[in-house]
Amino acid sequence: MPVDVLVGTQWGDEGKGKLIDVLTRDVDMVVRFQGGNNAGHTVEIGDQKYVLHLVPSGIFRKGVKCLIGNGVVVDPIALVAEMENLVSRGVSVDDVQLSDRAHLIFEYHKRADALREAGAKRKIGTTGRGIGPAYTDKAARVGIRGCELLHLDRMENLFREQAARYNQLFVANGVEALNVDEQWTKVKAAALYLQKYVQDTVVTANEFIRAGKNVLFEGAQGAFLDIDHGTYPFVTSSTTTSGGACAGGGISPRSVRDIWGVMKAYTTRVGEGPFPTELFDADGNTLREVGGEFGATTGRPRRCGWFDAVAGRYSCMLSGINKLAVTKLDVLDSFEEIKICVAYDLNGRKLHYMPASVEDLSAATPIYETVPGWNCSTADARSIAELPVNAQKYLRRIAELVESNVAIVSVGPRRDQTFQA
Ligand code: IMP
Repeated sequence: MPVDVLVGTQWGDEGKGKLIDVLTRDVDMVVRFQGGNNAGHTVEIGDQKYVLHLVPSGIFRKGVKCLIGNGVVVDPIALVAEMENLVSRGVSVDDVQLSDRAHLIFEYHKRADALREAGAKRKIGTTGRGIGPAYTDKAARVGIRGCELLHLDRMENLFREQAARYNQLFVANGVEALNVDEQWTKVKAAALYLQKYVQDTVVTANEFIRAGKNVLFEGAQGAFLDIDHGTYPFVTSSTTTSGGACAGGGISPRSVRDIWGVMKAYTTRVGEGPFPTELFDADGNTLREVGGEFGATTGRPRRCGWFDAVAGRYSCMLSGINKLAVTKLDVLDSFEEIKICVAYDLNGRKLHYMPASVEDLSAATPIYETVPGWNCSTADARSIAELPVNAQKYLRRIAELVESNVAIVSVGPRRDQTFQA
């Protein structure tokens, strides 16, 4: 089997971790290609719940290679903590490989992230993991990469140089300077742990592809957090759409077969930025409570709203999604009526695509279509035919509006609550 890519089609938190866990049944390798530990991919196996931030979600399947690709930004201390935690719970991390080209995140990036947010007129509501500053250093060509973990003397010089530069910024802004010696001691310990995992993951990925093995690229965040196509500036700093898999994993677009889009049956967003279908009423609270919509990384309550088909259609177009995995359908079980946003109204103009400016998107009001709910539990359904008729109609309508095909439906957090459409 060639290569499949799986991405989020909304603002992240669509349930990608679970889907990837299900799809990895037949997979030989899973590759993370962008983002960092701002992601929180939740996987439930039996009565055990795991939240992965950097380690690919294939880790629970024996023998599946798990690559952290060149496009990821990696906090080495956070990665070691995550790997040690997995090992302490009996999960082997022997199959993890960390790209020698992935950029590293240090304490100074996190502090710069917080400093920017504290002083910003337009707060982004970042996860505070130093993602933006690390990608900024990458683009400015002053970043430190995975390959340096193997050359500690060289890495120490680079680290001290960058830490001193950031300390000037901190002091100038009235923030306490970092103790560089203390920080280096921690970084060095993490580096020593990680050394044996550092590899040229581009070569590993391409060797697997050439050998005809099954490879899955695991996207993090979602289409509207994409640095180019998202609700800029309220976005993350990486390419979250399917094209990012090629750049961030070092593979050719020619090798990609299916592109999976994970789409929640309603919409959520964490952090700041426009969200046309956001609900501030009892329906929004129901979605949050029933859906357990609290951030896996930061614990923040997520903003909740109805399904936005304008956004869905746009992200299916951006990523070329030919297979949709609709998640959390069961969260809609108790609604008498359900609304679907089919277009936006911007000052009397009907929009069918996402506008570029956040001012326009904030001013746009959703045009809704109301459909009847199904008012019963879907949690035990294991096929489309076992779903209530109105739930089947809802799925068909979503697929039609976003111009793609439903291939998988998920009706609960467990592995077994997922079925092929
Ligand atoms: P950053 O990625 O920490 O810089 O945060 C930028 C924006 O992306 C903020 O609105 C975050 O809440 C959002 N974000 C980042 N990662 C995730 C994620 O995994 N799920 C949902 N939102 C995210």
